[in-house]
Amino acid sequence: MSMSDTSGVTESGQPPRRTITLTVNGERRTAECEDRQLLVEVIREQLHLKATHVGCLNGDCGACTLELDGQIVKSCLLLAASADGAEVRTVDGLGTPQELSPLQESFWDNDGFQCGFCLPGHLFAARDLIAVNADPTDEEIRHAIAGNLCRCTGYQRIVTSIREAAARARTVAEA
Ligand code: FES
Repeated sequence: MSMSDTSGVTESGQPPRRTITLTVNGERRTAECEDRQLLVEVIREQLHLKATHVGCLNGDCGACTLELDGQIVKSCLLLAASADGAEVRTVDGLGTPQELSPLQESFWDNDGFQCGFCLPGHLFAARDLIAVNADPTDEEIRHAIAGNLCRCTGYQRIVTSIREAAARARTVAEA
């Protein structure tokens, strides 16, 4: 396929396309995408992982958060083509409805969500925080989740969920 000029389309008039390969939640997946497509679009529309949400599409809300090669990223800010060859973990990879992760369990037990739209961002931010800070203060938790918007909970229940998840992890570590 020959690239055209600066108009960003091929000679056929179609946007350039490519096949990308990702390891998603431990499974090797391939997707056909246009060079202009966002990672969140490919994750949702081609790989059918709909728990990664689309909110603002400009990096403000956190609903599209996932882990890319071990780093949490907002997948609406990345072109899918740039993730070719990467390891991706979506929120689906944190636990299952039958077997929630301890963090998800804490959100469930403490009403840490209502509609669940913001969960990807809050869960990944909490996971990152607890990995480096086993006993975070409420202020540290609020700082860690600051890049994620929730319209339902008023955030206090999210803070409580993360504080309790950290406490449960400490109990397990001490046992
Ligand atoms: Fe990506 Fe809002 S959809 S940050």
